[in-house]
Amino acid sequence: MGEVIEVGILEGVASTTIKKLHKAGLATLEAIAVTPPREIVALTGMGVDTAIKVNTLARLKVDPGYVSASDLLETRSHMMRSRTGSNEFDRIMGGGIETGVITELIGEFGSGKTQICYTLSVLAQRPVAEGGLGGRVCVIDTEGTFLPERIKQIAEARGYDAQEILSNVLIARAYNSDHQIMLVKNLPKIAQEHDIKLVIVDSMIGHFRGEYIGRGTLAERQQKIAGVLGNLLRVAEAFNLSVVLTNQVQAKPDTSYGDPNRPAGGHVMAHACTHRVYLRKGRQNTRLVRVIDSPYLPEEKIRIAVTAAGICNEDETTNMEYDPDMYTAPEEPEEFSLEEEKVETPEELNLELDEINLDE
Ligand SMILES: Nc1ncnc2c1ncn2[C@@H]1O[C@H](COP(=O)(O)OP(=O)(O)OP(=O)(O)O)[C@@H](O)[C@H]1O
Ligand SMILES: [Mg+2]
Repeated sequence: MGEVIEVGILEGVASTTIKKLHKAGLATLEAIAVTPPREIVALTGMGVDTAIKVNTLARLKVDPGYVSASDLLETRSHMMRSRTGSNEFDRIMGGGIETGVITELIGEFGSGKTQICYTLSVLAQRPVAEGGLGGRVCVIDTEGTFLPERIKQIAEARGYDAQEILSNVLIARAYNSDHQIMLVKNLPKIAQEHDIKLVIVDSMIGHFRGEYIGRGTLAERQQKIAGVLGNLLRVAEAFNLSVVLTNQVQAKPDTSYGDPNRPAGGHVMAHACTHRVYLRKGRQNTRLVRVIDSPYLPEEKIRIAVTAAGICNEDETTNMEYDPDMYTAPEEPEEFSLEEEKVETPEELNLELDEINLDE
C-alpha cells in the first residue's frame, strides 16, 4: 500500500480529478497505476483522455520500466490520427499523424517540414469526426520562422474561421537549448490547461547543434537531447497527443554511394521517434515523402504539393472528405467505445462496484 496521493503529485492533473480518484477508492499511485484506463473511467466518470493520463503518469512514478503488451494495446486503442492535407500522405502514415508517439519530419532546407507543421496546426484542430484531433496546438519555435500569417492563409484557403484557428495555436520562441528544455518541461501544465492535442518542435536539434560544437561535447549534447525527447514522449503518452519534430539532414562527406544525407541527432533521435518521415524536393511545388525505419508503416515514396492551402494532394486538390473507416487496417485493435461500456442504471453500477470489491 503506497502513500495517499495529493494534488501536485501527478504533474498537470487538476485537483477535481484527484478528488474523483479518491472518491472511487483509487487513492494511491499504485492503485491508479494498476487500474486499466477503461476501469478508471467506469469508476470515476472522468474522460478517457484524463484516465489514460493519470494511469500513465502514475505508472511512470511507480515503475518507469516494463508494461504488459495487453496494457500497451489497451492504451494504443485510444490512439487518434490527424490528417495531413494529402490523401496519399495520410495513407502511408496509416491514416494520419498518430497520437501517443513522436513523428519526425526530416529534410533539407525548403523540403517542406515547416509547411507540414503549419498545415497540421490547422487540420489537427478539426473535430475527430473530420479527421482532426479536436484540440489545440502548441508550437516550440527554435528558429523564429513560425509565422501566424501562413496559418491564417492555410485556414482561409480551406474555408475555416482563421481567427479561431489562430487563437488555438500557442507559439513559444525558444531562444537557446536551455530555454527549449525548460519549455518542454512545462508542457504537461500547458497541455492540461489548454487541451493541447498536437505539440510541434521546429526544429528539435538546431540549438543543440549550434551550441555544442566539437567532438568533446558530443556525449553531453546527446544526453541533453535524449532528456528532451524522453519528456516529449511522456507527454505524448500521458495526454494522448501527437508530437511532431522537424530535423535537418546533415551531409556525411565519407559516403561514397547512396544518399549522402543523414538525419541529425544520431541514434538518440532514431530511437525516440516512432515514425520518421523523409522529405525531398520534387519538381515544381511538389515534395517526395517517404517513411523510413518504421515498425509497421510501408516504405513507399509518394508525392505531395505545397500550395497556398498548405500540404495538398499532388494535383493540388484539398479534397478533405473524410471516411473514418477508410484507413482501418483489419489487424487494428478493437476501438474502445464509451457508448458500449456505459453503465445504464445505478443498480448496474452498484453491481459492477460490488463485483470489483469482491475480486479484491
Ligand atoms: N504560401 C505558399 N504557397 C506555396 N508554397 C509555399 C508557400 N510558402 C512556402 N511555400 C514553399 O515552401 C518552401 C519552404 O518550405 P519549408 O519552410 O517547409 O522548408 P523547411 O523544410 O522547413 O526548411 P528549413 O530547414 O529551412 O526550415 C518554399 O520554398 C516554398 O516552395
Ligand atoms: Mg523550416
